[in-house]
Amino acid sequence: MSLISLPRALEILSQDEIVAIPTETVYGLAGRIDSPTALKKIFTVKKRPYFDPLIVHVHSIEDAKRLCLEWPEVYDILAKEFWPGPLTLVAKKNSRVHDLISSGLDTVAIRCPLHPLAQQILFSLKTPFAAPSANRFGKTSPTRWTHVETEFNGEIPIVDGGPCQVGLESTVVQWDFKNKTQLSILRPGVITATLLQKALLKHQIKVKIEKNTSHRSPGFLLQHYQPKWPLVIINKYNLIEKDKASILNQLNTHLPKPHFLSSKIDWIELELDHQPQIAARELYHQLHNLSSGKKAILYFLTKGRWQSPEWEGLVDRLSRAASLQYFEEEPQ
Ligand code: TXA
Ligand code: MG
Repeated sequence: MSLISLPRALEILSQDEIVAIPTETVYGLAGRIDSPTALKKIFTVKKRPYFDPLIVHVHSIEDAKRLCLEWPEVYDILAKEFWPGPLTLVAKKNSRVHDLISSGLDTVAIRCPLHPLAQQILFSLKTPFAAPSANRFGKTSPTRWTHVETEFNGEIPIVDGGPCQVGLESTVVQWDFKNKTQLSILRPGVITATLLQKALLKHQIKVKIEKNTSHRSPGFLLQHYQPKWPLVIINKYNLIEKDKASILNQLNTHLPKPHFLSSKIDWIELELDHQPQIAARELYHQLHNLSSGKKAILYFLTKGRWQSPEWEGLVDRLSRAASLQYFEEEPQ
């Protein structure tokens, strides 16, 4: 077991090492931003490609500004409204941000986490840390310390902060620094376009908020968050034998070997709460749990959820985690 105390975590972080820490969204794999050795370890341990930049976690808006060339008014308003919390702002970086963090881009993604232990670590370290989700690249994110323990076979020291209360990674947004008229959502999350718009309108600021943007984050892959056993999303009501056979056939044909499912379909259903906040909190935990069942995981996605702005973050993660999407229009 690799659980460690907070003082021990601070000690390890000060020795060019990395530690898994809780945030309100998911557990992160943290390394100090002033330690290139620790930053490199993050990429190696996660098997993360260097082209996928990291999010820097800060204790305050002031700490964020110290890393940026430019801090637009829009960011000030959003940070005051949503920080500490699950919103990441992509800003023009200055030379304090190592190229390993930003993957050579001229921008840096920054957020101030809400979890009290993450806050305490940042306060005591007096330096920000970079932290991606504490899972191997492309795999399901961790929302309990046990998920991290299993993912890295007990080789990473972990601070236990209980189950993550949000459960989905932060919303990532980027201001259009050139034209200064538009905010793009690079990764959807629980802070939705409606919430962002509302916060800005309170300050009489009207901007266009672009969703499903084409200039996604560099690490934005179509396949991500994948559980160990394949997830299938189904948007068809009366699943008949022919459909089941077709799903099974597609799973067996398209998935990398070694993969097998018996011809007698063996699967288990993922059920999510009807309230999106609770569903978000439970999604990754359920995927981790169901993966140990050695069965394909089926999720029936209703049109209501598919089209609801409040479900956007969830549907985004489900679609990327899925090995197969079996869609058919709902009967009228
Ligand atoms: O909630 C979260 O954001 C969690 C917790 C640990 O804070 N962190 C997290 O990190 O989800 P990660 O590394 O799994 O995802 C970071 C995302 C990636 O899609 C990455 O491409 C994007 O943020 N990103 C980082 N820096 C960026 C930049 N300069 N420009 C655009 N996208 C960036
Ligand atoms: Mg991640």
